[in-house]
Amino acid sequence: TIEHKVDSVLSLMTLEEKIGQMTQFSSHGDITGPIVNEDIEPYLKKGLIGSIFNAVTVEGIRKLQEQALAESRLKIPVLFGYDVVHGFKTIFPIPLAESCSWDLYQIKKSAAIAAEEASAAGIAWTFAPMIDIVRDARWGRVMEGAGEDTYLGALIAEAKVKGFQGNHWKDLYNTNTILACAKHFCAYGAAESGRDYNTVDVSDRTLREVYFPPFKAAKDAGVATFMTAFNEISGIPCTASKYLFRDVLKDEWQFNGFVVTDYTAINELVPHGVAQDEEQAAELAVNAGVDMDMTGGVYLHNLKTLVEEGKVSENTIDNAVRRILEMKFILGLFDDPYRYLDEKREKETILKPEFLQAAREIGNRSIVLLKNNNQFFPITKDRQLTVALIGPMVKNRTSMNGEWSARGNKNESASLFDGLTEKYKNTNIKFLYAEGCDLKEPGTEGFAEAINIARKADIIIAAMGEDYNWSGEAASRSNIKLPGSQQKLLKELKKTGKPIGLVLMNGRPLDLSWEDKNIDAIMEAWYLGTMAGHSIADVIVGDYNPSAKLTMSFPRNAGQLPIYYNRKNTGRPLPEDNPKMDYRSSYLDVENSPLYPFGYGLSYTTFQYSKPSISSGILTKNGELKVSVTITNTGNYDGEEIVQLYIQDVTASVTRPIKELKGFQKLNIKKGESVTADFIIREKDLGFLRLDNTWGTEPGEYKVFVGNDSENVQELKFSLVE
Ligand code: IFM
Repeated sequence: TIEHKVDSVLSLMTLEEKIGQMTQFSSHGDITGPIVNEDIEPYLKKGLIGSIFNAVTVEGIRKLQEQALAESRLKIPVLFGYDVVHGFKTIFPIPLAESCSWDLYQIKKSAAIAAEEASAAGIAWTFAPMIDIVRDARWGRVMEGAGEDTYLGALIAEAKVKGFQGNHWKDLYNTNTILACAKHFCAYGAAESGRDYNTVDVSDRTLREVYFPPFKAAKDAGVATFMTAFNEISGIPCTASKYLFRDVLKDEWQFNGFVVTDYTAINELVPHGVAQDEEQAAELAVNAGVDMDMTGGVYLHNLKTLVEEGKVSENTIDNAVRRILEMKFILGLFDDPYRYLDEKREKETILKPEFLQAAREIGNRSIVLLKNNNQFFPITKDRQLTVALIGPMVKNRTSMNGEWSARGNKNESASLFDGLTEKYKNTNIKFLYAEGCDLKEPGTEGFAEAINIARKADIIIAAMGEDYNWSGEAASRSNIKLPGSQQKLLKELKKTGKPIGLVLMNGRPLDLSWEDKNIDAIMEAWYLGTMAGHSIADVIVGDYNPSAKLTMSFPRNAGQLPIYYNRKNTGRPLPEDNPKMDYRSSYLDVENSPLYPFGYGLSYTTFQYSKPSISSGILTKNGELKVSVTITNTGNYDGEEIVQLYIQDVTASVTRPIKELKGFQKLNIKKGESVTADFIIREKDLGFLRLDNTWGTEPGEYKVFVGNDSENVQELKFSLVE
């Protein structure tokens, strides 16, 4: 068995060699942290490096693997990792965009393709999926996650893990799958005021109900590795949290894979103020159950002394090394350390036409139509129109991939201009173009030209957004309006009186209050990757009818953040019929509700919901209820609708959210046709952490909400009985 093989290797290893396995270094390039890398070659040759990341071609990886195997005593293969977050060479939509598709099949497929390309380039491990629940759009890393909802986030976590790794751990032996990494454990998305790396203080209840479930789902899907989060939780930096890694992950959840730190996260225990030096930091991390040190060199330089001083047991070291070696065996690296290294396969696999087509299709499904007055979109090919294309995103290629775009070639991604000119060639739709302004710098020099072409056109498509590195790691913003003078330009364009459609490319929910009031149509296109321009053009022309729905609420202004639909009621909720009532939980200067709620998104067609029905008003412990609703496509296009079911536990021993997503269906409905969606509710779907800290349900009254977003719902009721 693999355990026997691991034991036999372990029995041959010196303490230094074991510590080497617990050490990961970055090769050149792609440095995302403060510490400049050590020269890794001498360590590699001595067998003192277990893993390397940021080496990205078969040729480069082969060189490093050869060095490790040629001179090291035990010739243990090195594990090569990389941030393959939303594609490797073929770049898919950023995860936040992709989550808006609510399409688990497509989401799994994009991860599988990413794994296929990355593994063909020699990589056997990705630091993905990022499955942090994200509720604060100021935080730049919301672009990497699946949004604010725990239920959907857990399903997406499972889909991603299975996409990267396959459905079963044995699939990891195939050379087209790679180890996944559930990151960042935990609650990184709850950073105070959305500032990256900032303090987090969440209760155990919130951890267990909101932040843990996607990680538990990843674990249940067989995820091979976990990554520690940079932040602290209630005074304990995650990388030193015995509670997270030993008590919860390894004991309670019985996780058998290994834990890697985030970049230099052990070193950072010193500035966090829980370790006086790196030696103490290493002691805290390893005793907390953290198995591999990413880049910091802290284990490499301190663990031996700590074992000698009796502060760390050799058993702890053995346990960590066992977990790491086991993954190397599962991948087949001991059978053949070069099994991922095949130049021919690399060449044949990268950027295959079917991968590009898949990226284009998931791109179609990620675009959220936020507003569409007078059916501004679609702009069908049969029309005769002059369209002014204005804005810094029209011809921009470099931002299309968004952050964490691996080896995606920024200059080769399709811009909106590329997509539109190809789509409308040989039609009577003619384009004029002006950049108008910069993406982030203030300045109005380009306004005159933009207004001039706007005047000559019948309609305006404004393409605006955020530079790609204005979201992602270390890219927090306190103001989430369109940056630079983009909004100012929109105001000038508005004065021309021409209809305006705004196409947005950005990595976070923006404050679009002004735009919503003043612009005719708004399409949230996010960063869609290599095929971005084509995906957007498909939707603009109507070849694909938009179906995506937001997975993060868009606030009315940044002062509402964090904002999420599944909030608590408070003791003084604002009555719906009296929004100005005094001494209620509200703002003086803005409504409580978001501008666009979770689950919201328009289609070119219209869907009408019947009155929903429920099979009984009583749910017994082992029974089930069926909720049904019929949706009719009443518009002029075939379309897809994401029907959503939410539940509220009205009174419990602890406060419960005003509603929580518990089911959804994405239905394909032809124009004029009706489809019925059935949802099954069981007692096990209703569990929460009760007052006595046990997980389960309590009898009583529940509300069910069925609708096309988290606010526009119809209500039913049932009681759960003992
Ligand atoms: O995987 C990432 C992590 O999400 C953020 N810090 C750097 C790591 C490696 O690049």
